[in-house]
Amino acid sequence: MIEDDFLLTDWGLYVHIPFCQARCTYCDFNTVTHMGVDDHQSYMDALAAEWERAILPSGRLISVFFGGGTPSLVDPSLIGRFLDVVRERVREFGPDVEVTLEANPGTVTREHFVKLRQVGVNRLSIGAQAMQESHLKALNRIHGVTDIRRAVSDARDAGFDNVSLDAIYGLPAQSFAEWQETLTELLKLKPDHLSLYRLQVEEGTPLADGVRKGTLIMPDDDRMADMADFAEATLDDRGFVHYEISNWSRPGFDSRHNQLYWTLNSYLGLGAGAHSYHEGRRWWNYRGVRRYIETQRAGEPALDDGEILSHLEQMREYVWLGLRRQRGVNRERFHTKFHEHLDEVFETTVAELTDLGLVESQDAILKLTGRGRDLANTVFRKFMAEVAP
Ligand SMILES: C[S@@+](CC[C@H](N)C(=O)[O-])C[C@H]1O[C@@H](n2cnc3c(N)ncnc32)[C@H](O)[C@@H]1O
Ligand code: SF4
Repeated sequence: MIEDDFLLTDWGLYVHIPFCQARCTYCDFNTVTHMGVDDHQSYMDALAAEWERAILPSGRLISVFFGGGTPSLVDPSLIGRFLDVVRERVREFGPDVEVTLEANPGTVTREHFVKLRQVGVNRLSIGAQAMQESHLKALNRIHGVTDIRRAVSDARDAGFDNVSLDAIYGLPAQSFAEWQETLTELLKLKPDHLSLYRLQVEEGTPLADGVRKGTLIMPDDDRMADMADFAEATLDDRGFVHYEISNWSRPGFDSRHNQLYWTLNSYLGLGAGAHSYHEGRRWWNYRGVRRYIETQRAGEPALDDGEILSHLEQMREYVWLGLRRQRGVNRERFHTKFHEHLDEVFETTVAELTDLGLVESQDAILKLTGRGRDLANTVFRKFMAEVAP
């Protein structure tokens, strides 16, 4: 299992690829839709330049994640060249490093996947979102349902044995039956991992505009809860492990990269707007893609801003991020990392949440109960508000 697989000093590399063919109505990620192939090349050069200047954590690199935007828009040979540059500084980079690439079904072919596999990508995260043409169209997705099926089958043909699918529930006017259909159809594609997100209405997106004007009607909380319950029961039935609030995997296929975030391990983020974390320090790059390319070419830092987390803030984050995981927070690991006892630092909060039936303890583990999962944000806020003892 992953927990035993990785060490407190293991770290991950996040590589932000900001290009998209079109912008989906709900998305507020740092993306651009107007840049072409020449810019892809310049951007990948900029990433290599930033990597070469970066100070690397001293532990093992266990995961590289190309996220976006749409990393599958970039030619696989450029992804391969970038991975070669990474390997030059990380000599022990072996086949056991998880190398994930996010792919949009409207941008890929079998040939494309074959090349990605050849250059060392070993995990795909494919954005399916929904299995009805009407919803895909309404979300301004650039692909149809057939493209999703084809992308998964091409990925398998190309030799990918670790394929994840993303879907969103709670879409405007989405019925419960449609969500059932989406999940049932996705399961027919035999994914190794599923990320199922409840739709977030982000300010400044066309989705938020539509909701405000009343032209888009969001499902009510009861329907959302029914959708989440359906996913929970169906995937449990099919042998998936609900290892984190939004993530399910076949046993052994949990995403290493995500786990690093939830255990407050170090990660280095490269690219426009990318965030990094190392030993209580968090920092992020500015978002402008042109500016990023130009400054990296000139050998200047991409740093926008940062913050230093106090010891207490790190402990709070460790606990609420850890509670997102099904396996919860391990008190011994907490002690090894912070040299303090979890139950002393969070004495009142743990007691209160236990009385309310929102968290439970099993030996060294503190975890959310079923009810705690439903009210996860309330629990997280409690820990975030914890003051110094
Ligand atoms: C970078 S995208 C994945 C790759 C590719 N760009 C695509 O969309 O196919 C990451 C995922 O975040 C999820 N996502 C993005 N914005 C969201 C929102 N507002 N609410 C819920 N999920 C969202 C989508 O499921 C999406 O697949
Ligand atoms: S969801 Fe994916 S494809 Fe759509 S705009 Fe966001 S990053 Fe781009």
